[in-house]
Amino acid sequence: VTQADAVAERNLHKVEHAVTPDERAFANGHRGAVLWLTGLSGAGKSTLAMGLERILFERGRQVYVLDGDGVRQGLNGDLGFSPTDRSENIRRVAEAARLFAEAGMIVVTALISPTRQDRAKARAIAGDLFNEVHVKADLDTCEARDPKGLYRRARAGEIKEFTGVSAPYEEPEAAELVVDTAELGIEEAVAELVRHAERVTALK
Ligand code: PPS
Repeated sequence: VTQADAVAERNLHKVEHAVTPDERAFANGHRGAVLWLTGLSGAGKSTLAMGLERILFERGRQVYVLDGDGVRQGLNGDLGFSPTDRSENIRRVAEAARLFAEAGMIVVTALISPTRQDRAKARAIAGDLFNEVHVKADLDTCEARDPKGLYRRARAGEIKEFTGVSAPYEEPEAAELVVDTAELGIEEAVAELVRHAERVTALK
């Protein structure tokens, strides 16, 4: 059963917008996109996402960050950290990101998104607009940073299923961009992201 069949079965129909993607892109001066940041807790996803948001905004771009920590306090307030809940967290954020990107925005998501399967699903949802970015730092580096004290609590057994400690993180195999935050400073890492974002959202 194709997705089109499933949609037809539920008496749903394709929605045709009054404004085309090209019209939106020309009005904004850039295309929409999803920059899907993945990495361990403490790798720097949120810091880089917000640094990127600031610079693109100052350049007049339409940009918005969907941060896992933030989204889990609202839209995904009903979800925990079991594999099933993480999958649903990622699915909903991918759907939301797709809507924002179709509306013309550059969406930056900052979710651990620990499994290849869930990231592949997010890619399938967002389609051509999707760019996977590995915010890379090894576990020792993230644990030494421990900005929220979560690794310490996870090691003490106070947080169950903590990514990298008692739950898996599968590194991306074919990310569009790898930003190594163990090597680069924040400014350099953000500059790499800005270059990538500008390239993939440029008007053709
Ligand atoms: S996921 O795996 O993509 O669904 O996770 P995400 O939505 O990005 O949420 C990660 C943030 O939630 C906090 N937190 C945990 N992370 C990992 N494992 C467990 N068990 C956990 N419990 C709470 C933590 O603050 C994560 O934020 P970051 O910014 O990644 O440190």
